[in-house]
Amino acid sequence: MLSLNNQPPWQAKTEFMEFQAKLGGNLKAYTYEVMRVQPGHRVLDVGCGPGIDTCGLAQRVGPTGQVVGVDRDEQTLADADQRAQEKGVAGWVEHRLADAEALPFADNTFDGCRAERVFMHQPHPEKVLAEMVRVLKPGGWVVVLEGDGETISFDLDDLRIHHILKRAWIEKHSNSYAGRKLYRQFKQRGLLDVTVEQIPFGITDLAVARRLANLDDLGKRALAAGWFTEEELRGVRTRMEEADAEGVFFCQVIQNLVSGNKAEV
Ligand SMILES: C[S@@+](CC[C@H](N)C(=O)[O-])C[C@H]1O[C@@H](n2cnc3c(N)ncnc32)[C@H](O)[C@@H]1O
Repeated sequence: MLSLNNQPPWQAKTEFMEFQAKLGGNLKAYTYEVMRVQPGHRVLDVGCGPGIDTCGLAQRVGPTGQVVGVDRDEQTLADADQRAQEKGVAGWVEHRLADAEALPFADNTFDGCRAERVFMHQPHPEKVLAEMVRVLKPGGWVVVLEGDGETISFDLDDLRIHHILKRAWIEKHSNSYAGRKLYRQFKQRGLLDVTVEQIPFGITDLAVARRLANLDDLGKRALAAGWFTEEELRGVRTRMEEADAEGVFFCQVIQNLVSGNKAEV
């Protein structure tokens, strides 16, 4: 597991996304395989962030293909354009400002479509999935990777505190349960050959968990909600710091990787 003893390298969203991508190892590349991306394909990444995946996909489709990434955050799109320039793939990668609930593309445009860690932020994830399926060509694959808030867990002997932190995490996001609903939603949308795989993600470094699970914010939220006292908050911080110093800190979350094929007409 990756260990960070110094100041974390995430001063901004882009650095943070790059760090997360590194932690995931080969997971991103695996999602492209599940998408069956081929040279010459035209593919879409929804909620593309700083373009880590659009650039990864660009290498797969090559200059005879096309990659489009959409995001609602203009700054992250500027970073994505810069990354595509640096990687030498800008000629066949485009990043556009758009809302995932209203994709600015005609029906049946893309050979493959993906979204990673986007659905938990959606008030209406089913609308996003409907849009992804609409713009996908018949025979194309849609792939979504998303965690499930219920599966976040901390190795704390005091289970009450563990459940409080988990509740704070769940309530912080628009749709913490999006990951578990995908299998059903893919089938209800009429996708074929739907598969779901569980991808575990463990963290053994408190500095990493602090940032990835937003631990400090969870503590503040729980305190503000009156779910625990300041003394209890100090106590849980101390226990986590002690565990980290002993090299035994642990927390985990499970992500679901769901894929489905749009029926040929
Ligand atoms: C956690 S980041 C993941 C970025 C990227 N998929 C990755 O794995 O590196 C989620 C991204 O989705 C974007 N996003 C969230 N909701 C969106 C929406 N409704 N429409 C477009 N982009 C959205 C955010 O701006 C953010 O860049």
